[in-house]
Amino acid sequence: MEIVLSGIRSTGNLHLGNYFGALRNFVKMQYENKCYFFIADYHSLTTHPTPKDLHSSVKQVFVEYLAAGLDPEAATLYRQSDVPETTELYLLLNMNAYMGELERCTSFKEKIRTQQENINAGLLTYPVLMAADILIHKSHKVPVGKDQEQHLEMTRTFANRFNRLYNVEYFPEPVAYNFGEELVKIPGLDGSGKMGKSEGNGIYLADAPEEIRKKVMRAVSDSGPTELNQEMAEPIKNLFAIMKAVSKQETIDFYIEKYNTCQIRYGDMKKQLAEDIILFTSPIREKISELSRDEEYLRKVVNMGAEKARESAAKTVREVREIIGFKSF
Ligand code: TRP
Repeated sequence: MEIVLSGIRSTGNLHLGNYFGALRNFVKMQYENKCYFFIADYHSLTTHPTPKDLHSSVKQVFVEYLAAGLDPEAATLYRQSDVPETTELYLLLNMNAYMGELERCTSFKEKIRTQQENINAGLLTYPVLMAADILIHKSHKVPVGKDQEQHLEMTRTFANRFNRLYNVEYFPEPVAYNFGEELVKIPGLDGSGKMGKSEGNGIYLADAPEEIRKKVMRAVSDSGPTELNQEMAEPIKNLFAIMKAVSKQETIDFYIEKYNTCQIRYGDMKKQLAEDIILFTSPIREKISELSRDEEYLRKVVNMGAEKARESAAKTVREVREIIGFKSF
């Protein structure tokens, strides 16, 4: 069975775009592969969160993924920091990661621009830690977005370099997992671009119904069509794209007909859209609030994930140490 692994940023709540993007596919995938999903909380230290913020955001992310359907019995769901074996592999891989290639990495160069006051070594070696995450379970497939492809390429470089240096075929070459057709792109509410791309253009799974109504009513539209079957402007296409994800076919058909005949009232359409989003997200929202309060269940799930992940990680580290020459007397 193929091993699939994905790391989840520990900050940032889930929005509809995440849900219809990777998340819904994770939920399906977890029953078809051996899946590891973890929250990349070590990585988050590169931006120096306060202990309080670190803990609460990790908890929130954990709860939201559970609420959205990740099944801790089917997949291994864990916090990166619960698997200290990762840090050992990270150290070992660092010995074969070269300054030049790390400095050339796009995400590092970006950080040099945006985080000038804190360009730490953790940022430079971020791709090495990510490689350790992936290689610790000898993963085959990694569902990542475009922005992470270079990191995945670097992981392959580190894996191959290790194999060559020690003349072994130990690490598989992980490849990007492409959802293809099944990736539904959800645009934001500000008229252009993906949901989550900019501040305030997203609807979050934890948003209260009142909040959702407010956001949708404020979404960018235009002054309305003036000719029959007029080509839609991007903000209008976007509203229909969100509608397509959450509303019934007859609702969509109804508003498209209204648009094509120049009778559409965006206010009505938005009201309907808001209610359909609320209906769609309600079970998840309720689950989020239920799980946040169930400390005992969370503790149980976190411990179970840590235990499963460490078992696989410890085996890899044991074998890697042996290959490198750390043998017992
Ligand atoms: N860098 C990824 C991101 O920013 C998160 C991540 C960390 C990750 N380790 C990983 C993703 C391993 C996939 C595999 O989204």
